[in-house]
Amino acid sequence: MGASKGCMAEIQEILFDEQAIAGKVRELAARISHDYAGKELVLIGILKGAVMFAADLMRCISLPVTVEFIQAASYGNGTISSRDVAVNKEIHTDIKGKHVLLIDTIIDTGETMNCLMKKLSGKGPVSIKGVALLDKKCRRTVEVPVAYWGFEVPDQFVVGYGMDHAEQYRNLPYIATVKTTE
Ligand code: IMP
Ligand code: MG
Repeated sequence: MGASKGCMAEIQEILFDEQAIAGKVRELAARISHDYAGKELVLIGILKGAVMFAADLMRCISLPVTVEFIQAASYGNGTISSRDVAVNKEIHTDIKGKHVLLIDTIIDTGETMNCLMKKLSGKGPVSIKGVALLDKKCRRTVEVPVAYWGFEVPDQFVVGYGMDHAEQYRNLPYIATVKTTE
C-alpha cells in the first residue's frame, strides 16, 4: 500500500487510541499552562512528526503563545537512527529573551531534540525545554531536557499521530506498533 519495496510494514497493535492521546495531551497542556503563566512562550514543533501533537497541544494551552516549526532530519525512510541531524527548515521568530518549548511526538535516541536545543540555545532564549508525548527510554544515547513526558513506550517502532514508517501512516489518529519486513 504505497510503501516502497524492501521497506514494508503492517499495523500490529494499537498502543494508544484517540481518547488516551487526547487525555494525555490535555494533562500536559494544563501543566504547561500553569508553569508558563505570565511568560512569553514560543512553541516550536519539530516537523513532520510533531504536526498533530503540536496542533492538539497548542489548542489546549490556555496562554498566548507564538507558534513555530522547525524541520530536522535524523531518519531516512527506514527505522534506523542516524546521529547526523540536519536542520532542513529554520524558524523565523526571534526567540531572544523568550521561553522556548520544543515539541516532538517521540524521543528515541534523543539526538534530534538535543541537537536542535543546542542550535536554538545560540539564539538567546531565556529558557529552552522539551515536551514529548512518547518516551522510548531504553534507546536513549544522550540526555535531553524534556520537562514534560507523556507515555513511555517499549523498543518497538511506532506509527500514527504524525509518526511515519517510510512516509506512511502519519495520518492515523491512533498510535500503533508496526511489523517491519526490512
Ligand atoms: P531521536 O533523534 O533518535 O530521538 O529520534 C527522534 C525522531 O525519530 C522523532 O522525531 C521521529 O521522527 C523519529 N522516530 C523515532 N522513533 C520512531 C518510531 O518509533 N516511529 C516513528 N518515528 C520515530
Ligand atoms: Mg520518520
